[in-house]
Amino acid sequence: MDQIKWWQDAFVYQIYPLSFCDSNNDGIGDIPGIISKLDYLKKLGVDVIWLSPVYSSPMDDNGYDISDYYQIDPLFGTMDDFIKLLHEVHLRGMKLIMDLVVNHTSDEHHWFQESRKSIDNPYRDYYVWRDVPTAITSVFSGSAWELDPQTSQYYFHLFSKKQPDLNWDNPDLRNEIYQMINFWLDQGIDGFRLDVIDLIGKDIDHFQLCDGPFLDQRLQEMYEACFKGRDVMTVGETPCLSASRVRDVTGGSAPLLNMVFQFGHVGLDEVPGQGKWNLKKLDIVELKRYFKHMQTSLYQTGWNSLFWANHDQPRAVSRYGNLQYRYESATMLATVLYGMQGTPYVYQGEELGMTGVSYTSLDQFKDIETHNMVKEKLALGWSMNDIMTAIYAKGRDNSRSPMQWDSSPYAGFSYVAPWMDVNPNYQEINAEHEQESIRSVFHYYQELFQIRKSSETFTKGSFELLEETHPFLFIYKRVNENHTLLVIGSFSDSIQSLLVSLPTNGKWLIQNQDIFSTNQHTSIPPYFAGIYEYKNRE
Ligand code: NOJ
Repeated sequence: MDQIKWWQDAFVYQIYPLSFCDSNNDGIGDIPGIISKLDYLKKLGVDVIWLSPVYSSPMDDNGYDISDYYQIDPLFGTMDDFIKLLHEVHLRGMKLIMDLVVNHTSDEHHWFQESRKSIDNPYRDYYVWRDVPTAITSVFSGSAWELDPQTSQYYFHLFSKKQPDLNWDNPDLRNEIYQMINFWLDQGIDGFRLDVIDLIGKDIDHFQLCDGPFLDQRLQEMYEACFKGRDVMTVGETPCLSASRVRDVTGGSAPLLNMVFQFGHVGLDEVPGQGKWNLKKLDIVELKRYFKHMQTSLYQTGWNSLFWANHDQPRAVSRYGNLQYRYESATMLATVLYGMQGTPYVYQGEELGMTGVSYTSLDQFKDIETHNMVKEKLALGWSMNDIMTAIYAKGRDNSRSPMQWDSSPYAGFSYVAPWMDVNPNYQEINAEHEQESIRSVFHYYQELFQIRKSSETFTKGSFELLEETHPFLFIYKRVNENHTLLVIGSFSDSIQSLLVSLPTNGKWLIQNQDIFSTNQHTSIPPYFAGIYEYKNRE
């Protein structure tokens, strides 16, 4: 690999603005609130902030339904606030990327308002209209087609009814999007996270939706029109791309996207082919094999991102860890994930070991996906008990509860009741407490990212999975010319013994607790994590 690019060893922190910090006491997070926490992010070691959407939106899908790409929603502040945020981020030597949601808009976007007026409106072809619906279903339940009474045609929406899909076959629409992208890049932002971008090449009439036949040519066109010649980073949300397709898109000297988000690892607790709500026990061997596949397939030929959680995924420590061992399992998850090759992403609160929510009343859940799913599953005969079990395990609101800053009422997120209830464990789990304690998830993250920066092996080294069939231990090597990093993580609440010893010519770079090793065997405590570095030859 050539020289490391800034976005390859950057540590990216995702902010979900609604739930990060409320500065004006309306119960909703906002941009001035984010500005007030930049020193905290700098202290943690963040290099890049990814801001989930802050554009004008009726908030049907919490901002992923945009009604004006050129405006900041008043809930979050003003354009001046945004420019100030960007300036303050840059002042601290960090970078800022925005969310780019261009598979669809809100139905309140003026393009759609025009489009629905008549079949010969100039904006009609900005969206997808048909006389007869097909069998395609929406990600948020029900048909993907909605009859619009004004013209008696159906419009297409892969997400909520209030998120009509844009018609990427239309060159005028594409040019409008490129103009908008350039507008934001010209403000000085440092790149984009591209929402469900593998949908923009779809051929709806032939049921080819994700990774559709036109994807590469459209990404190429976007690259030429917007990103070429600019030192910005792009990360595409691409659930459908296989490893070899990730290579096509992120490999080579002028990649169409710098990296992608792949979701294979977070789908392993679902019954294959039955959607996210049909739960299956995670098999650690399967998880390791997935990572091995991605790590080896992209080595020197593409680039991936490393994440457990985001605003769509449940909190990692509740999902893969063990709350009896919250510190150990949160730090173990960080170690095994960020020890691999790829750009690391942390979702707000993950650095505190924040946990998922167990609200008892459905009203406490806010996510449209969850509410649609409840209706759908009840109609299919699911019991309320099974529905709640699925929501606790997979609901998106798990990660959307307000950030826990301190132990004051509403967790220091706001002085008033927030738009979504705070997790009741905020008095124990919060940023103030984590920063004060010596043994905390926060400090472990800080140290882990410093260590990651100190050795190129994390970015360049090859990957070799060890103990592949062990049901609890995730052990792998990262190997560079001179050094090897041995990464060890245990997904078990009991001691695991291995008949191997650690090489004597090395040292622990980081550990979440002590490990016991003789020259014959190593005994690994519950949820142990550590990275051991040794020289390849004496
Ligand atoms: C993916 C986003 O991450 C999710 O939150 C959103 O609901 C869909 N795309 C639609 O924009």
